[in-house]
Amino acid sequence: MAQLQTDVVIVGAGAAGLMCALTAGARGRRVVVLDHANRAGKKILMSGGGRCNFTNLDVRPGHYLSANPHFVKSALARYTPWDFIAMVDRHGIAWHEKEAGQLFCDDSSKQIQQMLLSECAQVGVRIELGCSVSAVETGGPGFKLETTRGSWLCSSLVVATGGLSIPSMGASGWGYQLARQFGHELVPTRAALVPLTLSGRPLDDYADLAGLAVDRVGASVGSMRFDGGLLFTHRGLSGPPILQISSYWQPGDALSLDFVPDRDMAEWLAGQRQARPAVELKTVLADCLPRRLAQRLCDLGSGNRLLRQYDAKELAALGRKLHAWPVVASGTEGWRTAEVTLGGVDTGELSSSTMESRRVKGLHFIGEVVDVTGHLGGYNFQWAWASGHAAGEVV
Ligand code: FDA
Repeated sequence: MAQLQTDVVIVGAGAAGLMCALTAGARGRRVVVLDHANRAGKKILMSGGGRCNFTNLDVRPGHYLSANPHFVKSALARYTPWDFIAMVDRHGIAWHEKEAGQLFCDDSSKQIQQMLLSECAQVGVRIELGCSVSAVETGGPGFKLETTRGSWLCSSLVVATGGLSIPSMGASGWGYQLARQFGHELVPTRAALVPLTLSGRPLDDYADLAGLAVDRVGASVGSMRFDGGLLFTHRGLSGPPILQISSYWQPGDALSLDFVPDRDMAEWLAGQRQARPAVELKTVLADCLPRRLAQRLCDLGSGNRLLRQYDAKELAALGRKLHAWPVVASGTEGWRTAEVTLGGVDTGELSSSTMESRRVKGLHFIGEVVDVTGHLGGYNFQWAWASGHAAGEVV
């Protein structure tokens, strides 16, 4: 088969790979992007419920998990949310801010995918879909790749193959294998931003609440806490605070839920006991919680009697428990539904300003394949843009 030559080969036509390609292409580099999927940017298309939460106005290193929390600083400072917004605006894509600085397209995620593809096309980036790479060798001044479409010679190789979440979308462990082939260490991977599962007794306690949503709940593991809407599922718990806390939760960790974050429940229940002594506890609790949940928490906690039948200490203890309700999670829904992958290529052997390997000149790792994982809310795409841009400026 043909042996072709180019300056840069990027493996992975996702968010990070396309950003790297358009940045390097704009510098006049000859860029080829290879992807085994039949479509570029599949995760962009399905992101943000079809509207792509493409960045966040408040991006700080504290929004990322990594064995080296400083690693993200340089790339994020040099390609900010406003740089990406400028591109979005240039393409006339309407967007809006949801809660907490999260920016979404007004219409469709497809606009972001199309924007990236059109920027790539303008600077002559070649994208080969349905193309798998079977071998990579270093040779001469660069790399030789054997692919299902012949071999490529290039001076820079960028690995942008993402993480392991949602295998049906094209996720693979290829980037990790390549990193290992060239002597890179990997930080162990696990599913993150993923619903938590319950089993045994805890599942029996809550499974019939499946479909019930609670507007605002705080979910905590140790000192980490996230607030937002909770959803009971057939398997366990979901919703933004659960997805967020899943990045910090490990099997065996205690999970606690604050069901009424905006009110001091011990104080409030004491007041209710004075004001409504002949009303049942479940009825009073239904003022601040969905009725079915109020009933269930009574069943699992202190029963359901008239308020005057509880002594003050008992109500105070219940009030405190409603802010730290223990739930034993048994696991996560895993790669099938996880939004992202924790862990990945160890940042210790990568340059934080160029994403280049310190072991192999010309080899770069960008996006989710690297041990950098953002919180929910547009942070993962911002990392893909920023790391892709950092590499695209030097390859
Ligand atoms: P990405 O996964 O985007 O791309 C990797 C590419 O490499 C894919 O095209 C894949 O086919 C290709 N590839 C893999 N293995 C290969 C191989 N062996 N050979 C060739 N090609 C290969 N984030 C956010 O900030 N806001 C949001 O709204 C959402 N929403 C969201 C929803 C859902 C359902 C998911 C699963 C994820 C999100 N995310 C998100 C996370 C976000 O999608 C993710 O962090 C980025 O897409 C990561 O970008 P990458 O380019 O690194 O990987």
